Amino acid sequence: MNILILIGSPRANGSTEVMANTFRRGAEERGNKIAVIKAYDAKVAPCIDCGRCKDKIGSCIHRDDMSGGLMRLIDDTDMLVIASPVYWWGFPAPLKLIIDRLYAKERKSFKVSSSALLMNAYDEDAFEPAVGQYIRICEHLNWGIAGIITIGGIREKGGVKKSERLGEVYTLGKSIRP
Ligand SMILES: Cc1cc2nc3c(=O)[nH]c(=O)nc-3n(C[C@H](O)[C@H](O)[C@H](O)COP(=O)(O)O)c2cc1C
Repeated sequence: MNILILIGSPRANGSTEVMANTFRRGAEERGNKIAVIKAYDAKVAPCIDCGRCKDKIGSCIHRDDMSGGLMRLIDDTDMLVIASPVYWWGFPAPLKLIIDRLYAKERKSFKVSSSALLMNAYDEDAFEPAVGQYIRICEHLNWGIAGIITIGGIREKGGVKKSERLGEVYTLGKSIRP
């Protein structure tokens, strides 16, 4: 299947990228097709709740990377994977901008039918608010959840490489049937 990995970290070679690449390896080995978008590289304006997308269903007032290529990519995506660090118990702002803009298509059905969440943070107990938000969004959009993997206790950039739990991320990727 077509899998889109949305990366919510600005840091190259950080733990988020390690988790995303590990998932990717497993999923590609299984025969899936992967696209990767880094939220910090995308020019995405914030949703302003103007209501246009509700009047003209799915049509956003903004003309930017989201209304252009990114929405087309999502239109062609079967599984959306969010890979992100925790920022203030939530998602980093550029990633949240993209999530908010999904609102434009909330009443149109997405092709996406499945999803997964890969997160890392300094603290072990930092994930509950972001995971709760993610689960609510998936329920609202009728997206299945293939897996949620949160790895805390990250003390240095890329520190997740030392985690025994990285194998779970690979196994999750490998479990995705094309
Ligand atoms: C602005 C900011 C906010 C953060 N907020 C939290 C937090 O609420 N809880 C936590 O445990 N770690 C927090 N962190 C730490 C990151 O989640 C952690 O360093 C993570 O491993 C970074 O992943 P990356 O290297 O892939 O970007 C925060 C870091 C930054 C820069």
